Amino acid sequence: MFVCMCYGITDKQIKSAVETHGVGNMRELKQVMTLGSQCGKCVELAQEIIDNTIMDDSLFKEVG
Ligand code: FES
Repeated sequence: MFVCMCYGITDKQIKSAVETHGVGNMRELKQVMTLGSQCGKCVELAQEIIDNTIMDDSLFKEVG
């Protein structure tokens, strides 16, 4: 699923940035990929995906 139409960024790319680069917010995400600086419509959704990925990961770690 595309999160940022302007730059063609998918939810998978954001997830992997969180997992591999430890991205925790939009500012950090923008340091590893370009998104959100065109129309800005994707910013809220991108932040949501960051939050959800962090939550999923910490749940997974507790179980594992
Ligand atoms: S959809 Fe991301 S900047 Fe426009």
